[in-house]
Parts: sequence; C-alpha cells; structure tokens
Amino acid sequence: MAQTADPFSSITVTPMAVHIGAEIGGVDLTRPLPSEQVADIRAALLRWKVIFFRDQMLDHDQHVAFARQFGDPTPAHVVYGGQNQQPEIYSIAKFRKANSNRGQGAMRPWSGWHTDITAAINPPAASILRGVTVPPYGGDTQFTNLAVAYNTLSPTLRGLLDHLRAVHRFAVSQGATAVNDHDKAVQQHTLVSEHPMVTVHPETGERVLYANPAFVEGICGMEADEGRWLMELLWEHIIRPDFTVRFRWQPGSIAFWDNRATAHLAPRDIFDTDFERQFYRVTLNGEVPVGIDGRPSTAIEGRPIEPVARP
Ligand code: SIN
Repeated sequence: MAQTADPFSSITVTPMAVHIGAEIGGVDLTRPLPSEQVADIRAALLRWKVIFFRDQMLDHDQHVAFARQFGDPTPAHVVYGGQNQQPEIYSIAKFRKANSNRGQGAMRPWSGWHTDITAAINPPAASILRGVTVPPYGGDTQFTNLAVAYNTLSPTLRGLLDHLRAVHRFAVSQGATAVNDHDKAVQQHTLVSEHPMVTVHPETGERVLYANPAFVEGICGMEADEGRWLMELLWEHIIRPDFTVRFRWQPGSIAFWDNRATAHLAPRDIFDTDFERQFYRVTLNGEVPVGIDGRPSTAIEGRPIEPVARP
C-alpha cells in the first residue's frame, strides 16, 4: 500500500519488499523538485536503501540536474571514463559503444554482486541509473541491504567482523600484462583501499557489512585461506533472498541506490538474447568510510574521486 511521507510533499512511497526497495510516486523528475520532495526522497532512500521511479523520460542534462539535488556528481567512471560532452554520464550498454573517452574497447566487464567502486578511498555515496532502451523481458537488476545483512549475523560473528578490515582492489590481475583497452584503462587507474568490514553509515548511524565479492581481495591479518573461507560465508549471507529486491525495468524507469548500504547485481541473462539494453548512470561523490572504532579507511593506491565542477 502506498504511504505518503509528508502532507506537504505529496510523494508516495510504496515498499516493494520487507527489507529493501520502494517505489516513489507523485514526482516529476524532469523539473527542479520542491525542497520538501527532496527531503522526503532522501528520507525514503535512507529508509529503503534503493528507490525506484517510473515513467521519468529524462535526458542527460535532466538526469544530472536531478542528481545534483542530492549531492555532487562524480566523473562518469574514474576507471573507464565517460563521454567528453557529458562528464557525469556513464553509459552502461550491453553492446560496446564507441563513445568512451578511454578508447573504443574501454567498456567494463559485466561484474557480479558489487557495490560501486569500493576500491576507491571514497566510493560513491549513491548511484542513479536510468533505463532508456530496455529489453521486453529479462535484464532485471537485483539489490541487497547490507545493514540488515550485518544485523542478522550472530553476535559472535559480528564481534569478529567489527574489528576487521579488508583490501578492496580494482586492478588487472597481479603479474598480468594489459593487452586490450579495457585492461589498459584499469592498469592506468588502479585503485586499492583498505576499508573497515563494518562501517557506520554517515547519515543513519547504522552498522553496515561493507564488503562485496567484486572488489574485496583479502582480509587484513588473516591467512589467505582463512580470508577466503570467511568471505565465502559472507558472500552467501549477503545475498539471502529476503534481504533483496529485484527490479523489472521499463523505459523511463530510474533506480536510485544508497551505495553505502547496498550491493547490486547487473543482469547476465540479456547476453542470452538479441535484445539491446542501454542505460545511463550518474554517481554522487562519497566520503571516506569509517569503522565502528572511528578509524577511517586508508588509500593504498590511487587518488580520491573528485566531483565534477559545477557548470
Ligand atoms: C551497475 O552495475 O551499476 C548497473 C546495473 C545494471 O545495469 O543493471
């Protein structure tokens, strides 16, 4: 059932699953939003971790303008680059497009469950993904709530994780030579950071299991095998179906997720069809994560992500 968040705002918030995901109605994202709506959308994002909008036919400028009401957009992608005309817009296409400023082949591979760019010292705070060309079926995106994942672990395991840190790496495999444009882009923009495995969300104060299988390469202070066993347990736990929501896209759909409290999975089923899929993403600049002991993350390689200057 739809719930109205604030009588002056007129947005509706319709939860989609018990722990994550709500659809927002009563807004027109093509125009600047009243401050009450911005506040209510932000509150819904913090509560539901990922929020969805339907029938919002935004162009690139409107997409960036919507994002700017919630933070400072980053460059399209710190590793893969973007389109020179639209520095904030990252194209996510099934088929490789020749519009990247880091070379024709500089598309990212379709990774598994991940949180955006956690190998950076200050990973994006949020991401806003817009569906333009959408397959008639298939191509759904799944999201999971990493705060509920933390809360549902035993006190014993939480007590261990509370004090652990992990290395997140975005690099070509160690010892490998970069031969294609994709690997060259990654090699030239290697990012490695050490983050707490449990972070304190800077806005809600919630504890978050801050780990994802795409970027975590090892756990500090553990033997490689021990780290692998612990990670396997965590990777199975964080994607428990009851922590997740699955979003069926339509042209004009938008997903806006809190990258500090979620992981997501891009679809692979589209590669078994001839359907096109063309999406665009804007990410909002984030802070350096902090653990429950107040210790921030540390950079091992690479520079902090800087927001795109306002026009
Ligand atoms: C992403 O991983 O940011 C994109 C997700 C998607 O294409 O569904």
